[in-house]
Amino acid sequence: MGRWGFVVMLGGLLLMGANPLISWGFSSGLRPLDPAAGGAAAGAASCRTCHQDVYRAWAGSRHAAAATNALFVSALEKEPDPRCVNCHAPLRAQGRRDEGVNCAVCHVRDGKVRTARPMSALGEAAHKSELAPALAEPGFCAQCHEFAFRRADGSLSDDAPIQSTVTEWRAYRDRGGQKSCRDCHMAEGGHRFWGAHHRPTLDQAIAYSLSPSAAGCRLTLQNQAGHAVPTGDMTRRLDVVAVTAAGRRRVVQSLVRTFRFVPDEAGGGMRKVRDADSTLRPAERRSLDLPADAARVEVVYWFTHPRNAMTPQLRDTETRRVLFAADLEEDVPCAIP
Ligand code: HEC
Ligand code: HEC
Ligand code: HEC
Ligand code: HEC
Ligand code: HEC
Repeated sequence: MGRWGFVVMLGGLLLMGANPLISWGFSSGLRPLDPAAGGAAAGAASCRTCHQDVYRAWAGSRHAAAATNALFVSALEKEPDPRCVNCHAPLRAQGRRDEGVNCAVCHVRDGKVRTARPMSALGEAAHKSELAPALAEPGFCAQCHEFAFRRADGSLSDDAPIQSTVTEWRAYRDRGGQKSCRDCHMAEGGHRFWGAHHRPTLDQAIAYSLSPSAAGCRLTLQNQAGHAVPTGDMTRRLDVVAVTAAGRRRVVQSLVRTFRFVPDEAGGGMRKVRDADSTLRPAERRSLDLPADAARVEVVYWFTHPRNAMTPQLRDTETRRVLFAADLEEDVPCAIP
């Protein structure tokens, strides 16, 4: 059984525009992007001539690799649901599958280039444009970065989020956070959209500190990202691992989302819902007492469920990263001798 637990027919649709006046035609992946949407079929190479720097940044991004990266390819093989491809390669029907989420997916509709700012005369001479300030808002990203499981009748079950990065971002903002998706993900790297696959970005997510506790050491994690950590794909997890002097490893806590099955009121079968969420909430500070026999602590980020990491296709791919490690006696003498 795959990550989504079941495969149902494509059915109902939900139009979730970032701005009610302007729609991108995304549908949480329920349908492919409408092939009738004019110049939306443009390949990235047709923008490259005049936008070389943006092209180069995009080409190195996960958006460009959304349909071809090993983690996606192996997950799709286990669960070949058309919905996956509708989101990871919205222009498949237009022959652009391997470009994943390309320029046209975000910028081109009805033969016009959508921009957040008014197009200059120079730009207007190169291509027709349409002003779409919503492009710069988190609601635009939400059309792909926020979605739910589907019931047997095709409707989306709002009690069952698969990804909830934008809802998490709202919680970050409610707790005083000032930045938008764009401030953090389009700043230095522009269209690189750096995230968990970029070590320096991943390193900014959490501040770590060790302090003495009654039993020995206490590790404190402080979320510094603009959403939960980990966020995004349902299989992401963070393990806090204690290692004894003899090398025995024990997971002290997993920061992860778990899922369970409930009867599907719309179809008679079962559907998946989110069960528990132990990820680090926005702005959360969490302290964990490490076992008294711990000689070392590691914080390990998993890009996929540890049991998937063994599949042959992923053997040469990075599936985990050690984000933080400390030898408790040498680096930090927590326990009072
Ligand atoms: C995932 C969606 C997405 C993709 C894919 C994407 N863009 Fe953008 N682009 C944006 C957003 C959002 C902005 C920012 C709007 C703002 O802040 O003004 C932007 C801004 C721009 C700008 C103006 C600012 C700048 O950096 O120069 C250009 C030009 C541009 N994009 C071209 C492209 C080209 C060419 C491609 C493909 C090589 C591309 N975009 C791919 C979302 C995207
Ligand atoms: C023939 C050259 C040319 C091609 C091809 C071209 N552009 Fe442009 N584009 C321009 C020029 C020139 C500007 C205006 C730049 C300026 O004013 O600094 C512009 C501006 C833009 C902007 C707005 C930048 C801003 O300041 O907000 C976006 C977005 C954009 N282009 C996207 C695209 C996309 C997507 C493609 C491919 C489908 C594309 N362009 C193809 C020449 C081109
Ligand atoms: C204050 C900065 C900040 C803001 C604001 C922010 N992010 Fe992030 N984001 C990060 C950091 C740091 C990471 C790396 C840690 C991680 O992957 O959890 C990250 C990771 C991600 C990832 C990668 C997750 C993965 O599993 O690969 C996605 C997707 C993402 N952010 C989307 C968004 C979206 C969408 C928004 C707006 C709703 C947003 N982010 C707002 C800092 C930010
Ligand atoms: C058409 C759908 C779509 C839109 C719109 C979109 N994304 Fe994505 N984004 C994706 C997909 C699919 C991936 C996963 C690619 C992969 O398989 O690694 C992704 C990955 C990312 C990552 C992860 C990079 C990493 O290293 O893990 C970040 C960050 C991100 N997007 C930010 C944004 C932001 C910010 C916006 C809004 C400006 C946005 N995206 C709009 C579909 C989209
Ligand atoms: C509504 C859009 C949408 C649908 C539908 C969707 N995804 Fe994704 N997927 C995303 C976004 C956005 C991300 C980026 C978040 C992140 O990087 O963790 C992502 C990330 C992933 C990743 C992590 C890729 C990486 O680079 O590490 C995998 C694997 C994945 N999806 C597999 C699937 C599979 C398999 C399906 C179908 C069963 C599916 N997705 C359906 C939007 C979607």
